[in-house]
Parts: sequence; structure tokens; C-alpha cells
Amino acid sequence: METTELEHPTMPRIGDNAPDFEAVTTHGRLNFSDYADGKWVILFSHPADFTPVCTTELTGFANRKKEFEALDTKLIGLSIDSIHSHLAWVNNVKEKTGVYLDFPIIADIDMKVAKMYGMLQPNESETAAVRAVFFVDPFLKIRLVMYYPLNVGRNMDEILRVLEALQTSDEHKVALPLDWKKGDKVIVPPPKTLKEMEAVIENAYYEKIDFYLAKKSLPEKVLVTV
Ligand code: BEZ
Repeated sequence: METTELEHPTMPRIGDNAPDFEAVTTHGRLNFSDYADGKWVILFSHPADFTPVCTTELTGFANRKKEFEALDTKLIGLSIDSIHSHLAWVNNVKEKTGVYLDFPIIADIDMKVAKMYGMLQPNESETAAVRAVFFVDPFLKIRLVMYYPLNVGRNMDEILRVLEALQTSDEHKVALPLDWKKGDKVIVPPPKTLKEMEAVIENAYYEKIDFYLAKKSLPEKVLVTV
């Protein structure tokens, strides 16, 4: 039997280059890689404007925007709605809640970007994007992907936690354990040679279960003011 593009949508994976695109947004027409401008980007989709769970989620992103900015990260939303619908919804949310959704929201009415990013999952909905979150690094690589169904809202603390974990892992070349959050100890990379193994075993500062499971504290950042 012939299969359609919708039955087998493109699903960008961890480590892939983030597909580039041009789109109409609430901030005008933009090109994704230009928008990224060397920063981290969170590209997220919601099923539809003027719906309750989506309203809680997008106000959640807007309320935490300063925390994303502090992590050098830009936000961009998407749904398969028209630009007129987006503008009316943004205005309505501002009037009713006082929260301004002041990041670009893509009007993906032809589903081009949603299909590119595997946001259309036809057994969930053939017309609305699922709740996807793509974490794109400054080199435009996809580093983490979340897909949530239509009826379950995401968790903003978790989105910020994993973003900080990715950045910490890059900066210090470490891995992060279960439930890691900023300030917690990190995983020492497991040794690959006997010499490295001895070094872990002999290190008195590490918290050790064994040579392959050792944790260490990261040096505290010193703020230098001039
Ligand atoms: C919501 O955001 O509330 C929603 C949107 C689409 C389907 C179900 C719930």
C-alpha cells in the first residue's frame, strides 16, 4: 500500500542539523537561521490558538522569557493557524491575563514547518501540531527533542532544566545525572583507560560509587566587576 508523507513524517533527530526555513510570524517574515543569530533557540509548537492548555503554556514561556534570555536562548512558537488568528489571540491573552506573548509565533498555515519537524503526528491529529519542543544549539544542531500529546501540557521548569543541563554539559564536558539541577554535582566522564581509571579511584574529592560512577562539584563562577 502506498504511504503518504503524513504517515511517515520527517522526524529530525538529536544531532541532526535543524532544518532551515522561512516563515510568516507575529514578528514578520523571518528565516530561522538568521533569527537564531548564533544563540540557542527553543522552537516549540502548540496545537491551536484560543485553546486552554496552549494558553497556559504560551503564557508560561512568556513569563519565563527573561530566564531563557539569561541562558542566551531565543524562543519561537508555531501552530497551524493564520497570522490573523495569532494576532487576535496574542491580543486577547494580553487583555485577559496581562501577559504579552512577545516572541515570534509562526503562522504555519500550509504545515510546511510542522511537517519538516515531525510536529504533525496523524494518529494524534491530522490538522493540529502536537506539543513539540526542539532545543537547537548555536551551531544549529538539534540537541534535545520533546513531543507531548494534545491533552498534556509541558513543564517549564523541565524545559529550563534540560536547557541548562545541555549548556553545562557543553561547557564542562560532563554528563548530568537523574534530576540534576544547577548547583548539583555532575558525573565525571567514565574512564576509558586504566590510567584514567586509577586517576578516578585515587581522586579524594570525587563522590564515588565506583570508578565508573563518580560525581564532582563544578567550580563556582566568580563574577569579576571592574
Ligand atoms: C488545548 O490547548 O487546550 C487543546 C488544544 C487542542 C486539543 C486539545 C486541547
